[in-house]
Amino acid sequence: MAEAKQIMPDVLSIARSVQPIMLKSNNPQLQLPGEERKFVLVIMGTYYHTPTYGRLDVLRDVVLVVQEGKIVRIANGHEETEVQEEFGLAEVRQLKAGQYFMPGFIDTHVHAPQYQFTGTGTDVPLMEWLRKYTFPAECSFQDLEAARHRYSLLVKRFLANGTTTAMYYGSLHLQPNLVLVDSIERLGQRAVVGKVNMDRLSADDYIEDTADGLRDAEEFVTYTLGKKCSRIQPCITPRFIPTCTPELMKGLAEIAQKYGCHIQSHISECCGEVNCVREMHPEYASDAAVFEEMGLLTNRTVMAHGTLLSDDDIRHLARRGTAVSHCPLSNFMFGDAFFMVNHALSLGLKVGLGTDVAGGISPSMLSAQRMAVVNSRCIRAHKLAVSGGTTVTPEMEKDVITFKEALWLATVGGAQALDLADVVGTFEVGKDFDALLVDTNLSGTSGPFDVFEGEDDDQRFEKFINLGDDRNLIEVYVQGVCVKRGDEFLLDGSNVSVKATEDDSDRIMSAPTPVEPEAAYLDLAHRADSSDEAASVDVGAAAEQSEPPTKRSRF
Ligand code: GUN
Ligand code: FE
Repeated sequence: MAEAKQIMPDVLSIARSVQPIMLKSNNPQLQLPGEERKFVLVIMGTYYHTPTYGRLDVLRDVVLVVQEGKIVRIANGHEETEVQEEFGLAEVRQLKAGQYFMPGFIDTHVHAPQYQFTGTGTDVPLMEWLRKYTFPAECSFQDLEAARHRYSLLVKRFLANGTTTAMYYGSLHLQPNLVLVDSIERLGQRAVVGKVNMDRLSADDYIEDTADGLRDAEEFVTYTLGKKCSRIQPCITPRFIPTCTPELMKGLAEIAQKYGCHIQSHISECCGEVNCVREMHPEYASDAAVFEEMGLLTNRTVMAHGTLLSDDDIRHLARRGTAVSHCPLSNFMFGDAFFMVNHALSLGLKVGLGTDVAGGISPSMLSAQRMAVVNSRCIRAHKLAVSGGTTVTPEMEKDVITFKEALWLATVGGAQALDLADVVGTFEVGKDFDALLVDTNLSGTSGPFDVFEGEDDDQRFEKFINLGDDRNLIEVYVQGVCVKRGDEFLLDGSNVSVKATEDDSDRIMSAPTPVEPEAAYLDLAHRADSSDEAASVDVGAAAEQSEPPTKRSRF
């Protein structure tokens, strides 16, 4: 260590301020361009992850080596000395008892500009909620200084909660989305980010002309790609079918194809939305059929919700390689049906987990995992209730998931959904080190739970998943870089913590006043919500179609 200090005192002191152990490697193969790449991160301890759905694997007392952000070696603890020699290390950091690494969470559905009103305004159905709370809030991001401040808080809050990767929706206007990308880049998160597009059925001051929308979407893509930041990828984002003309959707699909971009939208989310689409596009059997015709179902598409997808819709998405973001909390708030995770997986669908801030009222992926477990038990309860009996049959158990499956959804499932399965989600040689250091030693009121004598590592880790929160996440890593330690965001020049500062309270966001929905818009939502037989959701009928029909658009 002393020798390394003599060699490069400045770089080492900077590196040590952001990394627990970053030592100069003497291995010539590991001497990469750029001072910071000459350092490796080596930590001995216990690592939990879920490479297989339903199984929690533990790498106990291993030495994990990270070079240039990637895991290059996972050795047994007794090989510590060999690893030390191989990498020319002066020392290896040892985790304390009760501390574990786990993969960072991957949130596959977040509305970045809705973070400001998360936890409020859930009193009305989805179509009205958009008009009353969401569009005004998103529109207010045209104030770029406010956007900068709010997005900084957003990214910090998500990182603090262990979300190392997020799939973000931005807002309609181009500029605030660039601020969002800048904030993500600056704070070190990994993300897939999209500028929202909508050219119909929105508020007068929150809608775009089709041609402008397409131009801005492409500009957003080229701006983001121009950063050449391997952590951040642009995404094409038609908000959902009701707010997008076929011309817009087809144009967006072309941009996605031109740049090989991800695509995100909402699909078969609730009765109001599904019925609205049926009225607008009676020639299509389902949302999936519309998206198919528009060219928006690709192996880089993530569709949120999907609670009202028929089995044939699910099979079709699976054939296209399209994923669904399961958002259990927001489905409870705004959906009318359950998303059946195990059933969808059994049909070959890729499934990730999402908070759907602010439709979901928590930015925490721990909360999303717990909600996914509760959601699955609600399905069992529902089946039992419908049976009218008191016997829980194996069929009723099928959709019940445990914390292990929920954790898989929050890590591996998300990675698969975002086409990042080779990059993140588990601890494997060749993958990037996106990881959370969990400390279960916080006692009394300094932590969210207590540990008792005799509880082993597995029990402590399970307690963290079920009871823990951001206090337990003492270090957060993205691409091998510690982006947060304790209250400090290490890549943030200003080093502002998530905790409110005086500066923050001065700028407490003047939340836009909720607007009363306009009659024309409400009419449509209400008609869509009506129990009129022709308009009502009939999943069975849709299921009869073996392939979503590709019919002529009426526009
Ligand atoms: N459908 C269209 N837009 C949205 C949104 O912002 N949130 C949710 N939950 N559903 C939507
Ligand atoms: Fe959403």
